[in-house]
Amino acid sequence: MIPQETIEAITDAARIEEVVGDFVSLKRRGQNMIGLCPFHNEKTPSFTVSPAKGIYKCFGCGKAGNAIGFIMDHEHLSYPESLRYLAGKYGIEIKEDSPSDEEKVLRDKRESLLHIHTFALRFFEENLWEKEEGKAIGLSYLKERDYREDTLRKFQVGYSPDLWDALTDRALNEGFASDLLSESGLSIQKNQRLYDRFRHRIVFPIHNLTGAAVAFAGRTLTQEAKGPKYVNSPETEIYHKSRILYGLFQARSAIVAQDECLLVEGYTDVLSLHQAGIENVVASSGTSLTVEQIRLIKRYTPNITILYDGDAAGLKASYRGIDLILEQGMNVRIVLFPEGEDPDSYARKNRVNVVRDFIRSRALNFILFKAEMLKKEAGNDPVKKAGGIRDILNSIALVPDAIRRNLFIRECSQLIDIPEQTLMFEMNKILRSKRSSSPEPQPATPPSPAPPAIPQTRSMERTPVEKELVRILLNYGELEFSLLIQSEDITEEISVNTATYILHQIISNDLDIQDPSCAEILKVYRKSLEKEALPSINTFINHADADVARLAIDAISQQHQLSQNWTRRRISVLNEAERLSDLVVTNVNRLKLSLVNQRLETISKQIQEEEELVMQMARLQEHQELQQLKVEIAHLLGRSMMY
Ligand code: CTP
Ligand code: MN
Repeated sequence: MIPQETIEAITDAARIEEVVGDFVSLKRRGQNMIGLCPFHNEKTPSFTVSPAKGIYKCFGCGKAGNAIGFIMDHEHLSYPESLRYLAGKYGIEIKEDSPSDEEKVLRDKRESLLHIHTFALRFFEENLWEKEEGKAIGLSYLKERDYREDTLRKFQVGYSPDLWDALTDRALNEGFASDLLSESGLSIQKNQRLYDRFRHRIVFPIHNLTGAAVAFAGRTLTQEAKGPKYVNSPETEIYHKSRILYGLFQARSAIVAQDECLLVEGYTDVLSLHQAGIENVVASSGTSLTVEQIRLIKRYTPNITILYDGDAAGLKASYRGIDLILEQGMNVRIVLFPEGEDPDSYARKNRVNVVRDFIRSRALNFILFKAEMLKKEAGNDPVKKAGGIRDILNSIALVPDAIRRNLFIRECSQLIDIPEQTLMFEMNKILRSKRSSSPEPQPATPPSPAPPAIPQTRSMERTPVEKELVRILLNYGELEFSLLIQSEDITEEISVNTATYILHQIISNDLDIQDPSCAEILKVYRKSLEKEALPSINTFINHADADVARLAIDAISQQHQLSQNWTRRRISVLNEAERLSDLVVTNVNRLKLSLVNQRLETISKQIQEEEELVMQMARLQEHQELQQLKVEIAHLLGRSMMY
């Protein structure tokens, strides 16, 4: 692994004109440099390099990127390989701490563990699908529960036969060491003998993010309480249960595309929802939700919706999960299923649209959820009620950013009918006591009562961005693009559907659309998304509203104006589709930016009009954080391509 500092050193050092210059002869033209494109044949140069922006772009074929991207594309190297190439060029040492002996042993052990798990996975699958016992007992049980073959195959569900040592025996015969068998937890040693951990059970493999099985969970087939309902693999070098979410490997793309992760309790809930077509779902399976698991989800989306069954037992435990999610700066909503139902049973009994609607309409944010619980439990008891309000305020105080805290306070105030100022005052007390008791007290700069220097935010034109997003939707809505998700030491490439991504970004970020025609088109798309079929372009071209029709026609005919020459037109369309990822992400960010600017303006006004000091402070903080957000988005935009 290349450490982050080294990556930064490399990107800082790599000058685009020098990197490209090794392969392309460049001539200066004004601020830029220009040459013959190395990615397509051309006689007149249209390949442009911008030293100031650190990027290159070919106006002939559309290829574009930064220095690392150029090496990846031109030399057909992977991301780390390209970093190594550039490090070599600029004499930057990559301290990839060469593995010590201990690390080598560990790596070998991991590999053997992965190997034996793959072996076991095949064994369990073979027993379910090909052996008489498995078919008669395991498969018939699963069919009884309405699981389809494609679902079972996708999750690689298997069966362990009703024998003491079926797997152990096979593995030993295949040459796996008995030490490895016990270490993996697949076999259990007792009285000098090895026997199978999983016997006579349905076996759910638990996958890591590369899709390899790293553990198993075996569900009993018998109703009577003979042994536990689930037998689970122990923790090993490759399986740390607090850091794994069941189903995440299968759910990742859907989570990114829908910008939401559904969290359920059990394996069967994950399978049933998937089978119903709801794929952005994972289970914490058996453990109460951990911070590591939440951070894992955060890589893909900031939005978690917890689905609970109707019984009250798990509810109180869920409170801690909610607080942990809030502490990570994420959004949490909660859906309670009717008494006696869980996501599994509900998804089997109802059509997918009903399930989707149920989740969407019943999802409560944590304040509403806690307030609802409070109403049920406290009734009119004033002491209990005060305790409940305090509990809500404690949760709000966990939210790291002031903007959201203040919004929650406002909502809470309306809901329980207590003035915002009072709640704000109480919450600030909680915050202060937390600060003073925290182990490393932050030298929190007291907000200065002097009015802040409010930057002149010239509101960006919103409509062009909205129209551009609509144009992308109409032209490329059905295409997939890939997103690079980078976190800590991992870079993953995830493929998402364009329409799904854009719409869910708009929904989950509350990006309201101002232009009425754009809003109308997006509304039709949102409806169609629920039916999982994109609307036909004719819906809009023949729309009763002439403005909508014109917008649609403009959107799909824009390419035609670029060039009359059809071959060139084909090329330009192709290339726009190729850099779809940039196109989509940039425009979504532009929309976010304009929204932030608009909120900044509103708050600036509020600060001047606000009379209560507590509220003024709160608004000031809100303003600061919005400003921060603005910088972050602007930074993201600056780094992406120019058009
Ligand atoms: N669990 C466990 N050990 C148990 C019981 C439960 O590890 N003895 C975990 C499993 O991850 C399980 C989850 O808790 O999936 C939810 O439990 P439960 O609802 O009882 O099991 P389901 O998997 O939903 O099975 P079913 O639908 O058949 O009841
Ligand atoms: Mn269950």
